[in-house]
Amino acid sequence: NDEQLAYKDRIKKLLIEKNAVLIAHYYTDPVIQALAEETGGCVSDSLEMARFGNTHEATTLIVAGVKFMGETAKVLTPEKTVVMPSLEATCSLDLGCPIDEFSAFCDQHPDRTVVVYANTSTAVKARADWIVTSSCALEIVEHLDSLGEKIIWGPDRHLGNYIQKNTGADMIMWQGACIVHDEFKTKALKDMKALQPEAAVLVHPESPSEIIELADAVGSTSQLIKAAQELPNKTFIVATDRGIFYKMQQLCPDKEFYAAPTAGEGATCKSCAHCPWMAMNGLKAIEEALLDPAGKEVFVDMSLRDGALKSLDRMLTFNQ
Ligand code: 13P
Ligand code: SF4
Repeated sequence: NDEQLAYKDRIKKLLIEKNAVLIAHYYTDPVIQALAEETGGCVSDSLEMARFGNTHEATTLIVAGVKFMGETAKVLTPEKTVVMPSLEATCSLDLGCPIDEFSAFCDQHPDRTVVVYANTSTAVKARADWIVTSSCALEIVEHLDSLGEKIIWGPDRHLGNYIQKNTGADMIMWQGACIVHDEFKTKALKDMKALQPEAAVLVHPESPSEIIELADAVGSTSQLIKAAQELPNKTFIVATDRGIFYKMQQLCPDKEFYAAPTAGEGATCKSCAHCPWMAMNGLKAIEEALLDPAGKEVFVDMSLRDGALKSLDRMLTFNQ
């Protein structure tokens, strides 16, 4: 609409003026994903967001996602100005893994390698030996297991259980969960699948194990998008945040995508599975972040930076 177009025009000018680039996650509003694409920014999973910000020449990064993504960008490139549309946009995994408690948990098992999901604070990353995202978690844990290492995994218990099952690694888990993926309902998904037997089920591994068991493909957001392109099915039931439909539909215009049910409503569950924190990223907030970066700038405790950078670097250079 006209208001959105006006916002987009103003933001495009500001991005050039401020030597800034927009880095958006697949769970943000489609209008933001489109804007990132139109302006030479990036729309991607959390691993590629980190890589893109790390190597792009812009001096200001506008990170449209949640807090851990902004903090990761700042740890990787402290010389850049990193701003977020909302500094309030957090994540239940980050909130559910406070550093003091997590550190005490790690201290009880000093013989174990600490592997944490990227959805954590800088302090938790600094306490960890390795950071992973869902795109590379399986390979990294497989690698550590092949070296005979025993693992502390945090904070997402569902992703941890999925990896444990697939690698056979010796893992003890922090009991965190994503409030969005934790809501998918097994019985309702089975009912939906029975009504559409030709549909392939795509599941993000932050979902409970009973949901993962019903999947035709399991993976990070980018891996699910790839599966949508590569599987021969014409219809898909998707168990992850509904923001992902923008990219799936763009890349597969002749296929149909349905949201997996979160509360038993079945096949008409159109408004479900959307992260309240990802939803804080809007055009107005992006314009404000560009006009007044100081009010929305991300800072990390520099005494934690080296520790967090060490474990992030291990992830970014793994298999390269
Ligand atoms: P990926 O995009 O890395 O799959 O992560 C999903 C997520 O948790 C973002 O909130
Ligand atoms: Fe965190 Fe889940 Fe939201 Fe991702 S979708 S930011 S994991 S609460």
